[in-house]
Amino acid sequence: MCGIFGYLGPKTNSLELVIKGLQKLEYRGYDSWGVATDLNGELFVDKKVGKISEAKLDNFKDKSSNIAIGHTRWATHGGVTDINAHPHFSSDKTIAVVHNGIIENYQEIREELGKENFITETDTEVIPQLIAKYRKDNSFKDAVFKAVQRLEGRYAIVVLNVGENYLIAARRGSPLIVGVGKDEYFLASDIPAFLEYTKDVNYLDDDEMVVVDGGVEFINLTTGKPVKKRLINIDWQAESAEKGEYDHYMLKEIMEQKETILRAINQDTDEIMHIAQMIKDSRGCFLSGCGTAGKVCMAGEYFFSIIANRHVNFAPSSEFPVYHHFLRPESLLIIVSQSGETADALEAMEAAKKKGCKVFSIVNVEGSTIARQSDFSLHIKAGPEKAVASTKAATSQMALLLLIATAMIGELQEGRRLLAEVASQINDMLNPRFLNYIKEVAEKIKDQENSYIIGKAENYPMALEAAIKIQEVSYVHAEGFAAGELKHGPIALVTEGTPCISLVANDEVKKDIINNTLELKARGAHIIGISPEKHDVFDDWIKVPDVGIASPLVNIIPTQLLAYYIAVLRGLDPDMPRNLAKSVTVK
Ligand code: G6P
Repeated sequence: MCGIFGYLGPKTNSLELVIKGLQKLEYRGYDSWGVATDLNGELFVDKKVGKISEAKLDNFKDKSSNIAIGHTRWATHGGVTDINAHPHFSSDKTIAVVHNGIIENYQEIREELGKENFITETDTEVIPQLIAKYRKDNSFKDAVFKAVQRLEGRYAIVVLNVGENYLIAARRGSPLIVGVGKDEYFLASDIPAFLEYTKDVNYLDDDEMVVVDGGVEFINLTTGKPVKKRLINIDWQAESAEKGEYDHYMLKEIMEQKETILRAINQDTDEIMHIAQMIKDSRGCFLSGCGTAGKVCMAGEYFFSIIANRHVNFAPSSEFPVYHHFLRPESLLIIVSQSGETADALEAMEAAKKKGCKVFSIVNVEGSTIARQSDFSLHIKAGPEKAVASTKAATSQMALLLLIATAMIGELQEGRRLLAEVASQINDMLNPRFLNYIKEVAEKIKDQENSYIIGKAENYPMALEAAIKIQEVSYVHAEGFAAGELKHGPIALVTEGTPCISLVANDEVKKDIINNTLELKARGAHIIGISPEKHDVFDDWIKVPDVGIASPLVNIIPTQLLAYYIAVLRGLDPDMPRNLAKSVTVK
């Protein structure tokens, strides 16, 4: 949901550096991009519709400057046009701003500053205009401080003032991280932007600003007082945020599931026992997340019920605040989020905290807002996930939930053993022959307009997740159903040749789902069975390992690959699905 990046340091190719950094944040938005710098006391701005990955670095070679800001956009207010792209600047061209978030009171500020002075349709343009107004009688720092007090909504901004060789950034609700290198500083929405230069970071918290000159000075925006922060060292490798030998991040991340589950379960035993006890002690335990993380939560509901005999309630984060009547101080909210920055998930946390509940989170980004604002947080250690479609994070999150469920009944070691076995089986499964076979199945169904996926028990959430994957990257209409629900309506949609994917595990509901699959077949469906065993009803059989209750972790992987190959065979870029963004930091 928009990527922002700023650089200040000794390097004089700051524009190229900022563009390269933004290319690593492209997953956050890819409809337009722009950069700004101070070129010998004059504001230079270049912004365009299109993908930042298509920016021509040569165009910036002759523009030498040691300070720059840039943006890659996922439009919210104002159409996708060159002029609406960021950076935005003040009428006097002294202040330039990049922004991630939404300014809710922008209309009011526009009126106040005179609508005729605005040249874009965006909410963001009010920020440089306001700063420029305060700048007339204030220092750069005080002008930014005063301007942000006026803003309502969510923002992470980086501000450049021509003639002042320093940057100022501020945040409320949208992520912003300061990378601290040797005499150089980076301000970015996410770590991969600067990972090749430094792994030392400071996280900006809500209602804080930072002045970056020869050092970093953090200021609380409510009190105006300085804030002390500890430098955190990130253990990601720069290469892990690159595509490497793969054509797309999505495929790379699917393949990484050979290792990521082992990393997810490599957790401190005391911490796992602590969270297992927190769940046991809670009175009213809730699971919440968005998109794929939400489907992971649903799988968690089944794990807690089947393994630990414990009822946990799921609600998508955007709906969670509605349930506030059920929350009390003894309740526990478990938030699952890859990025740790999703606005709806943060709002769910806020609703829980208002009622005095404890919050436990499972995130992939250490130090993310959700992690920091939780009472307790575990990190799945899956490494950067850059494809919009979440894959490796989902299986790691499920592994961790399953592990916690086993810890709740004193069987943590058995849980670890099972998941290590799952990891080893996935390692064997993800071989070139398997990938080729799935590509062949994808080829058969790629031109269909509709597809349906069914699952039962802990594989029902995986049917929903498989549908998300297919929809978001291949644009084929896909819907997931609880297998038993078919006969109550959805079966009317099935006609001759409709692809239907059946997720079958070797469990006590196997017979039921096979019967439901037969019902589909009788209406002419083309059945793709994902199962450890072959059943006559399958037209195509994708064999997966038999891993008992952990079956969602293996059943979901072929659907990720199917979605990927359908997209590629349809000539689409699975890493950049239309209308979507990786990190959704607006409500
Ligand atoms: C976006 C992404 C999804 C992701 C969801 C939740 O919609 O496109 O892939 O599942 O956000 O993100 P989170 O970072 O909270 O897991």
